[in-house]
Amino acid sequence: MSDHLPKYPAPQDGLLSPEMIADYRESGVLILRDFADVEACAALRQRALEMADAFDPASVSTVFSTRTDEHQADDYFAESGDKIRFFLESDAFDGSGQLRQAKEDCLNKMGHAMHDLDPAFDAFSRTPKLAQAVRSIGFQDPAIIQSMYIFKPPRIGGEVVCHQDSAYIYTEPESCVGFWFALEDATVENGCMYFIPGGHKSPLRKRNHRFADGRILDEILDETPYPMHLRLPAEAPAGTLVIFNGRTPHMSGPNTSSKSRHAYTLHVIDRACHYPEDNWLQRSDELPLRGFEA
Ligand code: FE2
Repeated sequence: MSDHLPKYPAPQDGLLSPEMIADYRESGVLILRDFADVEACAALRQRALEMADAFDPASVSTVFSTRTDEHQADDYFAESGDKIRFFLESDAFDGSGQLRQAKEDCLNKMGHAMHDLDPAFDAFSRTPKLAQAVRSIGFQDPAIIQSMYIFKPPRIGGEVVCHQDSAYIYTEPESCVGFWFALEDATVENGCMYFIPGGHKSPLRKRNHRFADGRILDEILDETPYPMHLRLPAEAPAGTLVIFNGRTPHMSGPNTSSKSRHAYTLHVIDRACHYPEDNWLQRSDELPLRGFEA
């Protein structure tokens, strides 16, 4: 059983060593320090804040919550697979319907196609270095299926309950891998990620489906509880990349600190695998899937 989260300095060219790949296969997680330049992280954060500035929260009030899954009932979420949309924290509004703090500090996330629709996100997502890392872990024909900008704002950043990403980004056979970038320092205090090392060798617990009537619901596949006592925090300074298998159970605590914890995540699938039509995330034919070619 894997009992730690493997951590290395990032290889300059993105090419993972045999030791890193072996650790990734064993743990289902690989932490690479200083993968992205801190300047590039700061620039992406700045771009996200510009985009957030142009968003009018009065126009939309879809809250993203893994506790209630209430976002799944909203078309605004359901149709966001090939768009750029903003989702609010559960505690964004106070009792009188006013935003509780500055707008960017009320946002839960932005998703799910910045990597295809915004030049700054496109460039950050498609560096030769990241393409090399993706190839290193065995992708034949990788495609970026979604991007998410996670705000995890101070004081009201919500908990994300333990889950496996392959439940939501399901392919046959499973091929989803997450690439998570710390854009700001992530600590236990501001709600860093936690992973259960080796948990990718356990069953897929759920599969999320979009039904013909538009409803999005989870199907329970396996009742095995997550071994929560084995979870380990992945504290990560800005610039860190965490690669994790779509089956690896992970979560993050609430952010009750005064510091935000911005992060950017890409999810990659292999086009050689079947992508079911009842996955929640669907894209229009006008925005075909792309890999890492610039
Ligand atoms: Fe996740």
